[in-house]
Amino acid sequence: MMAKYAIILAAGQGTRMKSKLYKVLHPVCGKAMVDHVLTQIEKNEMDKIVTVVGHGADKVKEALLNRTEYVLQAEQLGTGHAVLQAEELLKDCQGMTLIACGDTPLLTAKTFAELFEYHKSKGAVATVLTAHTPEPFGYGRIVRNELGIVEKIVEQKDATKEEAAITEINTGVYCFDNQELFHALHQIKNDNAQGEYYLTDVMEVFKKEGKIVAAYQMKKFEESMGVNDRVALANATKVMQQRINEKHMKNGVTLVDPDSTYIDVDVKIGSDTVIEGGVVLKGHTVIGNDCVIGAHSQIVDSVLEDDVTVTASVIEKAVMHAHSNIGPYSHLRPQADIGQGVHIGNFVEVKKAQIGQNTKVGHLTYVGDATLGKEINVGCGTVFVNYDGINKHHTTVGDYSFVGSGSNIIGPVNIGDHAYVAAGSTITDDVQAHDMAIARGRQVNKKGYYDKYPVAQAAKALEEDNQ
Ligand code: UD1
Ligand code: MG
Repeated sequence: MMAKYAIILAAGQGTRMKSKLYKVLHPVCGKAMVDHVLTQIEKNEMDKIVTVVGHGADKVKEALLNRTEYVLQAEQLGTGHAVLQAEELLKDCQGMTLIACGDTPLLTAKTFAELFEYHKSKGAVATVLTAHTPEPFGYGRIVRNELGIVEKIVEQKDATKEEAAITEINTGVYCFDNQELFHALHQIKNDNAQGEYYLTDVMEVFKKEGKIVAAYQMKKFEESMGVNDRVALANATKVMQQRINEKHMKNGVTLVDPDSTYIDVDVKIGSDTVIEGGVVLKGHTVIGNDCVIGAHSQIVDSVLEDDVTVTASVIEKAVMHAHSNIGPYSHLRPQADIGQGVHIGNFVEVKKAQIGQNTKVGHLTYVGDATLGKEINVGCGTVFVNYDGINKHHTTVGDYSFVGSGSNIIGPVNIGDHAYVAAGSTITDDVQAHDMAIARGRQVNKKGYYDKYPVAQAAKALEEDNQ
């Protein structure tokens, strides 16, 4: 088998993005563009991958880690110059070298594999991946002779009127004979409209040397979309989104309205789960089978086991075990761990808290820094008071206990199993198992007090009016 290498060009600033973030790090469906490219290249079992970094080099390395080797292009003098920087790592290699840009996030492993195959079958020194588009503006154009053989690639800014009318474009992806590539790169010049060393100019070098240059035309232009500005970024995201949604639907997930469903590329979803409209699933979220994710829920980096129901809620870095449910309008924050069969109702916030099997936290409650056992009922409007202004404090509630409505549980405090907290209590001391704590002022009724107040006069007048 012929060895396979790849070079990813990712040194540009991406001026047209008008962004502090380096272009290739802009995410598409939760993953940096350059990471998409690398992920698809990796699937082709490469012998070596080199990424050319420049602007934001450290940030790009942070994003891709040791999945690739790196070379630095200190000054961005063009795509040809960028590839040349990889020479030190590849000069002794024999085989095929794939070149892709870090700003084409939609290209797939399959297309790269097809390009390798086509290149081999043509016995070419260079094969460019091309596509047809009715709107070729901005792309390099493929100039073919009357026999249909590729002559050269002309950049938008250097194109004559006739050349600009060509609708076959350079996708920015190529396959080269590795040795021939570096040989040709030493011969290109920068005498063009942008004063850059264009990688595309190696094609003319090969032609002059009588070597075979081939072009592999891909069917779907959209897959080759290069992102240079935010409009293209949104377009690429749309296409990626559609691809992701289709994958899930084919795997047995119901998307009620795919057009308004936003799922990041690394999200996993089990079969027979139903996702309603306006749902956003981000990061490395994993959702089990038979779940229902109700309209307008947002779930980030969380794990939901089977048969979990989420109604219009926000879940971040949390876990919901099987058969649990939440919402409407509740919020799980990092390290919320919701046990099997637990019911979290409406307007409940849970942070860094474990909630045991079948416990119910139904309404208007904050649970922070707490461990709740199983089969507990937490009444409406309970606050686990965890913060004294400086430190966070932890509270424990044992199995089968009952916390009455409107209680403040001021941590650190332990409430035992089978314990009872009377409604409206402010708990500051531990409650032993099987005990009841009641901590509130006693009610006093004042006989006939109502009539002494002006409000009574007003009520009387109203009563008379109504007669
Ligand atoms: C390039 C191609 C064009 C093709 C288009 C496809 C050239 C001369 N032109 O144009 O034919 O249609 O891609 O999207 O190759 N980069 C570096 N160092 C540099 C310059 C660029 O690493 O000195 C990187 C950029 O980060 C980017 C990639 O190379 O990832 C392409 O550069 P870009 O400026 O986007 O080239 P285009 O104008 O899109
Ligand atoms: Mg580009």
